[in-house]
Amino acid sequence: MTKSIDLTGKVGIVTGGASGLGAYAALALAECGADVVIGDIDRAEGEKTVAAIEAMGRRGVFVEMNALHTDQIEAFVARARQEFGRIDFLINNAGGLSRRNFMDTVEKSWRKHIDINLVSMLAATYAVVKVMRETKTGGVIINVSSVEGLRGAPGCSVYAACKAGMISFTRSMAAELADDRIRTFALAPDIVETPGMVKFGAMGLEHHAARERYIPLRRMGNADEYGSLVAFLCSDMAAYLTGIDIRVDGGALAATGFQRSAKTGEWELLHP
Ligand SMILES: NC(=O)c1ccc[n+]([C@@H]2O[C@H](COP(=O)([O-])OP(=O)(O)OC[C@H]3O[C@@H](n4cnc5c(N)ncnc54)[C@H](O)[C@@H]3O)[C@@H](O)[C@H]2O)c1
Repeated sequence: MTKSIDLTGKVGIVTGGASGLGAYAALALAECGADVVIGDIDRAEGEKTVAAIEAMGRRGVFVEMNALHTDQIEAFVARARQEFGRIDFLINNAGGLSRRNFMDTVEKSWRKHIDINLVSMLAATYAVVKVMRETKTGGVIINVSSVEGLRGAPGCSVYAACKAGMISFTRSMAAELADDRIRTFALAPDIVETPGMVKFGAMGLEHHAARERYIPLRRMGNADEYGSLVAFLCSDMAAYLTGIDIRVDGGALAATGFQRSAKTGEWELLHP
């Protein structure tokens, strides 16, 4: 039997939820009936996303917070609990990278990567699981990793190490939190269009052409597809799933080492 996704009466919180993947997740949860609390450094974008949530008839709350600081994450979680009395879904989405070969990086940069990608996830998980245990309502935690967490990533090795750590943590938590009826997931996107990706310079025509060749489904992912996946994982339709990492990559990792020939369109080894 198939059913539609209904998250009415549930509450989701999203770190870095003002724009990009975090906003796509927040809007999808709201579209399926959940109220949503967004924590982000960007108040202007956050308030726009909250307005879009409220336009759907749900409650949206914006909390200004910097995920580099664990005390601000704790305050964000406390505010969500104060507003709604419960938290059902945590989307650990805040994250980021700078591109540089490891030997050209410095300790300050390593620690910043670890703080934004890993420590923020640990702090939010710790605070939210305490709430979920007190309310005994169970829940879902989604950690936004990356395909870089599943392969070597020259030029962003520390980011990749953090994203791999997120996947490992997701697995451990699936076991530790199962008796609390908390399910955990790691998402591993390759490329979905977001403001961050535009800034990163990954949206040029040459990039689209390259994607047609290396991604089996020939294109990047979009907001609807990403949001639908998040909503599905949060729903009872995914009640028997936990501890898994899901590649949101159009098949790119499945075809690692191959691309379509520019001349014939046939798959060929990258360096035959
Ligand atoms: N977009 C992709 O294709 C892609 C691929 C792989 C992984 N990811 C991961 O997805 C997540 C979101 O990526 P995105 O492309 O949507 O990024 P983005 O840069 O478009 O958006 C990031 C959001 O986080 C907020 N933010 C930035 N620093 C913050 C901080 N210190 N504290 C709180 N909020 C902060 C920004 O204001 C923005 O709203 C990241 O963890 C990223 O590593 C994205």
